[in-house]
Amino acid sequence: MSASVRLAVVGATGAVGKVMLSILGEREFPASEIVPFASERSAGRLIDGVGEVMPLRDDTIDGFDIAIFSAGGGTSREWAPRFAAAGAIVVDNSSAWRMDPQVPLVVSEVNPRALAQIGRGIVANPNCTTMAIMPPLKALHDAFVLREFVATSFQAAGGAGQKGMDELAAQIPVLHAARERLVDDGASLIAGIEHRVHAAPLAFNVIPWLGSPAGDGYTDEELKLVNESRKILDIPDLAVSPTCVRVPVMVGHSVELRATFEREPDLDEAIAALEAFPNVVVDPVPTPARYAGRDEIAVGRLRRDLFDPHSLNLFVIGDNLRKGAALNAVQIAEILVEQRIVVARAAAAGH
Ligand code: A2P
Repeated sequence: MSASVRLAVVGATGAVGKVMLSILGEREFPASEIVPFASERSAGRLIDGVGEVMPLRDDTIDGFDIAIFSAGGGTSREWAPRFAAAGAIVVDNSSAWRMDPQVPLVVSEVNPRALAQIGRGIVANPNCTTMAIMPPLKALHDAFVLREFVATSFQAAGGAGQKGMDELAAQIPVLHAARERLVDDGASLIAGIEHRVHAAPLAFNVIPWLGSPAGDGYTDEELKLVNESRKILDIPDLAVSPTCVRVPVMVGHSVELRATFEREPDLDEAIAALEAFPNVVVDPVPTPARYAGRDEIAVGRLRRDLFDPHSLNLFVIGDNLRKGAALNAVQIAEILVEQRIVVARAAAAGH
């Protein structure tokens, strides 16, 4: 990569932001300067090796080529258009812009060509659970033509950011100290456990509710799996049956999939397609702990359905902070630089 860009990282003090800064370093992103942004609370704080945290103000957001946002939907709705108006291309990790028809929703290995048309100066990074399943489903779609899938997620606490992991970590010693009561008196034990981020106490538990009600008994998190998958794979009538579940894992989202194809899938061909896909590894029994801190999407338990010859069952795992958020955003930024999309825009804005 030859160009050298001025890059803003908005939400730099958060769980995804911290991983973003380390990935930018690891991958030697060609930035002339990286400026961290966060809320007023963190302004002035020094981030080692990066610099002083800036607040979002009209006079601090000028002169950037790329701004990567991971600071929540409200911040993105307000500040992404302002960065774009000031000449930057925004890569946004929130859900604020994902379904806007002018905004490309991109998984770097799956649909990078969508970056040819960036309306509003904003590119959206998919939801971390959708992100994990897109590479394997794209590999299988190219081989057998995907028609529908059932997805049951096992999502880590870190999907709710640093506060999600902190809440889980705080509950573990309290419940562990009274673990005998978890055997026969769980209800009264967890009634006294504080929880704000997750829908119920998460330690030693499983919570089949993630997000807000979105109609017909589904949550908004579940509808993201439906709508984002259709947009990324460009299959407008793809049928998706989603259930999202929070599990007491720090990092690493898992998803059990039953995927149904137009063409009857051959198992060896499916394995070959998955192994040939960039950044996908086949692992017989993958676990989230094994893939935390890693870039690859792991696919295991690949089986033909017992009753439907057109369906496959598979278990997918992706680190929600890396490929599920920070890594994909950095990969998009790399494509913007490599394909000189960012240079063209900076020149047009008179930088
Ligand atoms: P701060 O650390 O100052 O609160 P997480 O997803 O781990 O909770 O991180 C959220 C990130 O978004 C943090 O960097 C947080 O900064 C940042 N953030 C939250 N609200 C705002 C805001 N209104 N303006 C800018 N950054 C924000």
